[in-house]
Amino acid sequence: MTKRSDKYLWCVGSKPPPIDPHSQVKHQIVQRYLERYVHVLMSNFLMEKLTLSIVDGFAGGGEYSSDDGTEYYDGSPLIALRTIREQEAIMNVGRTKQRRIDARYYFVEKLKPHFDYLEHLLSARLPAERFGNDVFLFENAFQNVVDNVIQDIRRRAGGERAIFLLDQYAYDQVPAPLLKKIFNEVKGAEVILTFNVDSLISFLSDTKISRKKLDETGLSRYIDWDGLQALKDQGPMVWRAAIQRNLARGLIESSGALHYTIFYITPMGSTPWTYWLIHLSNSYKARDVMMELHWEMANHFSHYLEPDIYSLNLGYQAKSDSNATRQIEFDLGEAHYFDEVASRKTSSGLTQKLIPAIYDSGESRPFGHWLETIGSSTPATAGMIRQALDPGIRSGDIIARSKDGALRKRGGSLKPTDILSPSSQRPFIFVPR
Ligand SMILES: C[S@@+](CC[C@H](N)C(=O)[O-])C[C@H]1O[C@@H](n2cnc3c(N)ncnc32)[C@H](O)[C@@H]1O
Repeated sequence: MTKRSDKYLWCVGSKPPPIDPHSQVKHQIVQRYLERYVHVLMSNFLMEKLTLSIVDGFAGGGEYSSDDGTEYYDGSPLIALRTIREQEAIMNVGRTKQRRIDARYYFVEKLKPHFDYLEHLLSARLPAERFGNDVFLFENAFQNVVDNVIQDIRRRAGGERAIFLLDQYAYDQVPAPLLKKIFNEVKGAEVILTFNVDSLISFLSDTKISRKKLDETGLSRYIDWDGLQALKDQGPMVWRAAIQRNLARGLIESSGALHYTIFYITPMGSTPWTYWLIHLSNSYKARDVMMELHWEMANHFSHYLEPDIYSLNLGYQAKSDSNATRQIEFDLGEAHYFDEVASRKTSSGLTQKLIPAIYDSGESRPFGHWLETIGSSTPATAGMIRQALDPGIRSGDIIARSKDGALRKRGGSLKPTDILSPSSQRPFIFVPR
């Protein structure tokens, strides 16, 4: 396997590297996420200013060419700068009193030729007074500058909203303790991380060097080292399911973030690279916005977990003969995309699991409680969870009332503060356990 670190090379005076399909998908996600991030936070029209920090920890040279060299594409630093500027213009359309996005950008790049290219490019695009004011460049490894960047974010008046774009080539430059530091120290942090599962898989075997490397990433204890070979022998489907189950859990648990999305990115085209795009945050809403993007970009994402509610906690042991493990293997032999078929499976699975869960709880609880309880353990968006409850609400098995006591007749109109209660009648659409 070619090392991914050989992939992109920037050098001042030469054409930028041709862009790969996987980078285009990733760029679309970053751009659309930033658009929605601003849109959601500024949906309160009384809010006059949004203070935001964008940290691009693996910035690259800043632009790419097409294969035939006739077109240019923005890299992540330019995408961030452009998207925020555009969103500021959009939110001020028709307003006399202007609203502002007070954004600060931190661009970090370790390799000198790449850094030089980025510096040239940004100097040509931005006025000189922005450097050191709202745009900061670091020729260094992200790990070496993260403390300074965090201190700067914390010193800013207006909050600690920060998006960290951590687009590492492989899987070892952003160890789990570094994620934990970000979430411990920056209150409003979100991370969009790439994690090259394929390169980890090709390297992973029960050897000293493999164990040492995984120790450094903070993920070693989530690997079933003894059963590793047996797992590999079962073929790529089971292997991918197992690795997603164990490592995803490891990354999430050790990052300290409350919410996540973690999916394989499977770019169209001939590129063999399969990796995870991971979003970590402490906000359910942020997670939901990212989840909506995955469904919108159905062709590019897949996962090997349950189609409705994941049971990551069960872990995966290749040698274990328990019923639970066999059940997982059965469920996970399949890849799920974000298409129509998956959407139907997700919705019907949730209907079958959630309505009985609410019924069996015997308690009245807000819809928001159920959203938080399911949290990130599902590929469903909040909208899909509403739809999954619809049959129960229409049939009267679940009674939904607004804060003021008004009866809701459809799942689609549920608000997080609405109270869901099991009906006192015998249910129609499911058999109680
Ligand atoms: C995948 S490329 C970045 C692409 C860029 N994010 C984009 O989307 O346009 C990864 C970049 O990270 C740089 N890099 C590798 N290790 C690094 C580290 N520890 N800290 C900062 N930069 C690093 C590489 O030199 C390379 O330019």
